[in-house]
Amino acid sequence: MATHLTIETDDKATIYRTLLPQIKALVEGEEDPVANMANVAAALREALGFFWVGFYLVRGNELVLGPFQGTIACTRIQKGKGVCGHAWSTGESIVVPDVDAFPGHIACSSLSRSEIVVPLIKNGEVSGVLDVDSDRLNDFDAVDEAALNELCAWFATRI
Ligand code: SME
Repeated sequence: MATHLTIETDDKATIYRTLLPQIKALVEGEEDPVANMANVAAALREALGFFWVGFYLVRGNELVLGPFQGTIACTRIQKGKGVCGHAWSTGESIVVPDVDAFPGHIACSSLSRSEIVVPLIKNGEVSGVLDVDSDRLNDFDAVDEAALNELCAWFATRI
């Protein structure tokens, strides 16, 4: 198994197109959800250089921090709160171009400037979210949203 990713381009769409099959191959060889979430977070951060990539998992009426790559983060988020809690409530992905302009944004790090959150939906229920933060304003677009939606639609069935 490859121990690092080899993607030699700066084109984001190409990176995702190359990365997603690599992630699927990595995950399909392992059934433990924690191990898989850890490697998915690492693969996304390594290939795309994001500031923070991680999972929050539905535990009762809260989201609880799961495997992630990046700086220390808030451990619990209430339903409807912040960008993550919003994506949980609506069951839809959300792109936030400027976190300071999002009412109720939860700042785990002052360096985070923009964010995308994608729900993990299994059997019609949100079981968690993928949260990706950038230290640059307006860093996420339709390319990220389409690729991460595709990734999460598949990955939700594996955790
Ligand atoms: N900003 C998120 C909280 C999680 S951290 O960014 C890792 C939010 O508003 O839900």
